[in-house]
Amino acid sequence: MGVFAISGAASGIGAATRNRIERAGNDVIGIDLDGCEVVADLGSTAGRAGAVAGVLELSSGRLDGLVTAAGVGPPLDPATIVSINYFGSQALLDGLRPALTATGDAQAVAVSSNSTTVTPSVPAALVAACLDGDEDQARALLAERPDAGSPGAMIQAYAASKIAIAHWVRRNAPGADWAGAGVRLNAIAPGSTLTPLLEHGLEDDTFGPLISGFAVPTGAHAAPDEIAAWIEQMLIGDGRRFLCGTVLFVDGGTDALVRPNDWPAPYAL
Ligand code: NAI
Repeated sequence: MGVFAISGAASGIGAATRNRIERAGNDVIGIDLDGCEVVADLGSTAGRAGAVAGVLELSSGRLDGLVTAAGVGPPLDPATIVSINYFGSQALLDGLRPALTATGDAQAVAVSSNSTTVTPSVPAALVAACLDGDEDQARALLAERPDAGSPGAMIQAYAASKIAIAHWVRRNAPGADWAGAGVRLNAIAPGSTLTPLLEHGLEDDTFGPLISGFAVPTGAHAAPDEIAAWIEQMLIGDGRRFLCGTVLFVDGGTDALVRPNDWPAPYAL
């Protein structure tokens, strides 16, 4: 069977995905701060390089799939959120692409979020700095905010990191380096999912009521395995070959509730 790399595999959505992929008979190389085959801090340039090198060594340079699930959320320093969520994920996608193309038939799934479409006033310049690959600029934009370190800055940093990774996926997925090289690249946008990340927010006096007050038409929250079930389909399901550049919302209907007419957006020439 196949060999799959999963960041954030020690907990939550990443761990649930690992369980499913292993139950289906595959090998998984987990990447996390602790408790995985590759121990690395995706918040730093050196940690990202070490993660890529570790996976390439353990996989002998050949991967059937990659999931970038490692991530952090509020309450936390906004610059740290962007560094781990966007730059940590993008570095894995970029650095492990040669191992994915080596098999000629592989999948990559970036874990985005439905915060992308339901968070107001996310600064476009922050998203642009991410997509330009300018981590110093992204962090400087957050530090320069008059409300740096506020709950609003944390929420917007989180959403910006998830918008940027979803746009990176859509920019790259159809190109020669990805679809053209036999690698389907997609993103998943979960809604609130009961993991340590969400529990950390729920326990906070400011974020707890905000998260609990969020409208989820199906009822909150997802179990990690409910999100992992869709990632499994994207990685090894029968329909995976034609899935390319998609951002799959699995969010209990929140995006549809808040943004019913905004997308699909008509193509205005
Ligand atoms: P989690 O906290 O259960 O798992 C995240 C994992 O990422 C942990 O094992 C953690 O150690 C690892 N991680 C954090 N910082 C790291 C670093 N610097 N280097 C390496 N690994 C690091 O959280 P959860 O909820 O499973 O999150 C997985 C992904 O899903 C994240 O990208 C998160 O933003 C995203 N997501 C989560 C939602 C939720 O409601 N739980 C909703 C939408 C998206």
